[in-house]
Amino acid sequence: MKPKPAAAPEGANPLANAGGSIVPRHVAIIMDGNGRWAAQRGLPRVAGHRAGAEAVRKTLRAAAECGVDTLTLYAFSSENWRRPEGEISDLKGLLGYYLERELNLLAKEGVRLKLIGDYAAFGPDLVERLEKAIERLAENSRLTLVVALNYGSRTEIADAARTLARKAKAGTLDPDSIDEGALGAELQTAGLPELDLLIRTSGEVRLSNFLLWQAAYAEMLFTPVLWPDFDETQFKAAVAEFAARQRRFGGR
Ligand code: IPE
Ligand code: IPE
Ligand code: MG
Repeated sequence: MKPKPAAAPEGANPLANAGGSIVPRHVAIIMDGNGRWAAQRGLPRVAGHRAGAEAVRKTLRAAAECGVDTLTLYAFSSENWRRPEGEISDLKGLLGYYLERELNLLAKEGVRLKLIGDYAAFGPDLVERLEKAIERLAENSRLTLVVALNYGSRTEIADAARTLARKAKAGTLDPDSIDEGALGAELQTAGLPELDLLIRTSGEVRLSNFLLWQAAYAEMLFTPVLWPDFDETQFKAAVAEFAARQRRFGGR
């Protein structure tokens, strides 16, 4: 007899895994391993980042084909500023280049773009191009691509706490009414579906300050594949693995 699906918390995909073939609504990926991929080939790190951008294109297509609603990609963490200036500038350059190059394709594929993280730190030129892209893709609804740029989960949670504190101080919010929902509604991911599946490539088994709150009941998948080698086949295998898991949300 099939086990009864556990009751999902509000906002979670109630059908996820109940029938064993349901696709995750929201998938997030920590795209790691570009540098090691390049090093293995005797190439500069930037070559790994370039190859990583190609993997984004393949993954996006696979996610759309699978019927995933939201794909969140960790592109630059708030800790990545610790890298040498040259690498940061390469990453910014690649972001601008691929944004330009892929925009028509994103439009054609029905992709909507959303950003999380303090992306203003990337400078007015990139900010303008990013915001223009968001505007151009705003009416699309097939898949929401969320790109995390200068994102850090602890800062996101602290920011949300500060907003709630300000509202309480101003007298527009009763402190006793603050619950999970109230804090979640102040996070940058507010309005997105609950995170179902979190993937990290490159063999590292850590979250590196990514979606700490949102990952509470996400299924985790860690693969040794380096990000530039991730493709449609890898993504579909991850979705199949998700379908085979049994989520319980604390129930039995
Ligand atoms: C991920 O690849 C890309 C970013 C963090 C921007 P890395 O650059 O971290 O590659 P490794 O981990 O050094 O191999
Ligand atoms: C996490 O990868 C950030 C992104 C993939 C953008 P890192 O390579 O920066 O993480 P650590 O330093 O290995 O934890
Ligand atoms: Mg890394």
